[in-house]
Amino acid sequence: MERNDLITITMNMAKKEKEYAESVKDTAKFFRHPLVKVLIEAISLDSEKHHLLFNVLAQLFEQKALAPVVDELLTLPKEDINIVISMIRDHIRVETEMIEMVRKLMDKVEDEDIRTVLSYIYDDEVRHHKLLTDIEQKIITKYEEKKEE
Ligand SMILES: [Fe+2]
Ligand SMILES: [Fe+2]
Repeated sequence: MERNDLITITMNMAKKEKEYAESVKDTAKFFRHPLVKVLIEAISLDSEKHHLLFNVLAQLFEQKALAPVVDELLTLPKEDINIVISMIRDHIRVETEMIEMVRKLMDKVEDEDIRTVLSYIYDDEVRHHKLLTDIEQKIITKYEEKKEE
């Protein structure tokens, strides 16, 4: 696909997600049940997130040469890189705890609506965990390569 098409598509999607987020938020106002209200608000927040993600994709397509994602970080002083790595590892640990906690709760709860919420959170936590682990791995790999240079 042409780069210009990719820019147009991702920019359109970013705009669409933003508009959709607003319109879903308006719908949430009509619900009295706190669970439905919050779930609809969660969809709106997810769409805000998709808006941000499509936006950054459009920015990336606009750039001629794409720098690999962790290259910029590795220009920082060594101490800072080590701080970032240890912070990311802390986040990974917290996400792991959250995954475990949600899983335990799911084993205890039978109510279908509550389980729906828990499994929604669970899926998010697994995704967060994977993203952070991927970022950590990328940093470590690049960092090692750089040290060998
Ligand atoms: Fe979306
Ligand atoms: Fe999380």
